[in-house]
Amino acid sequence: MGEQKRIGILTSGGDCAGLNPIIRAVVRRAVNGYGWEVVGIREATHGLMKRPPEVTELKIHKVDPLLIMGGTVLGTTNKGNPFAFPMPDGTLSDRSQEIIDGYHQLGLDALIGIGGDGSLAILRRLAQQGGINLVGIPKTIDNDVGITERSIGFDTAVNIATEALDRLHFTAASHNRVMVLEVMGRDAGHIALNAGIAGGAHIILIPEISYSLESICRKIEQRHKLGLNYTIAIVSEAVCTAAGETIKQLGQFGECRLGGIGQYLADEITKCSGAETRVTVLGHTQRGGLPSPHDRLLASSFGVAAVDLIAEGYYDRMVTWQNRQVVSVPIAEAIKDYRAVDPHDTLVTTARGLGICLGD
Ligand code: F6P
Repeated sequence: MGEQKRIGILTSGGDCAGLNPIIRAVVRRAVNGYGWEVVGIREATHGLMKRPPEVTELKIHKVDPLLIMGGTVLGTTNKGNPFAFPMPDGTLSDRSQEIIDGYHQLGLDALIGIGGDGSLAILRRLAQQGGINLVGIPKTIDNDVGITERSIGFDTAVNIATEALDRLHFTAASHNRVMVLEVMGRDAGHIALNAGIAGGAHIILIPEISYSLESICRKIEQRHKLGLNYTIAIVSEAVCTAAGETIKQLGQFGECRLGGIGQYLADEITKCSGAETRVTVLGHTQRGGLPSPHDRLLASSFGVAAVDLIAEGYYDRMVTWQNRQVVSVPIAEAIKDYRAVDPHDTLVTTARGLGICLGD
């Protein structure tokens, strides 16, 4: 056994299914494999700003049930960039040094940061500024982290959206309706595209492919002519209106919240086709619930690989899934490119081959 280490782990950004299984895998590998200590940091970097830093010692017996639990027992936040942190008086303050000091006060040898591209970029900046030995693990239901084929949480979200589509088929057919399912994904259409194919949607709308209402109504009409009295459409939250606008609201912390395109489309479909429409907005159910078996496998592999990277002294790297295996890449390279749906992606070709309307 090598040198004794004390490592920290935090979850950052929006939660998703699979975070708890990562925590379990990290603790198992670090404690059983190397005899190290693992410290769980509460609510992302916020826990490191607190004095004393808000942490919990993660023991093997504590993490045992985490494999099947959704969410994150450490808590998380997708607000409060430490380099421009909103203060009670309305000003923005750079609190990065407090976080760095918190890391060093805890006597940590390394930090495992679990996050999407935004969180990983912030963690990397903190690591560079403060000499933090950082290893990253990609998570996001949006599956938009550049270099990894899969991020934690995506598979579970696709399963949930697929199950929703499965259910909508029966009620749609019973009432001769057009059902519109709005899903998350931010600026990437991966959830809509994957769930749309898996769940037998007739229309899939994603932000990467522009649509026309005529094309959508033509599809509904064609199905009617074939004696198919109902239609299922799935739409990604960042799809624009016909006028090219994204439907969004400003949240209480000034954040941009997407949502509403499903209702807009349903109204437009009724206007142009006369069909009776109903809308389902899946929202945060896509982030909750039990992690799928695939997310448990990915989380377990990523957790073990992240600890092994620390053991080998490789830092500033992110674990990724590529060509059927876990490898690591520099974090800077991993988050360099945003990974939206490529309009020539195999699944786009598959959808077209199946006769699914992509709106164009
Ligand atoms: O990035 C993950 C995600 O679930 C997006 O798909 C969605 O737009 C956003 O987070 C919702 O964030 P919040 O939890 O702040 O409402």
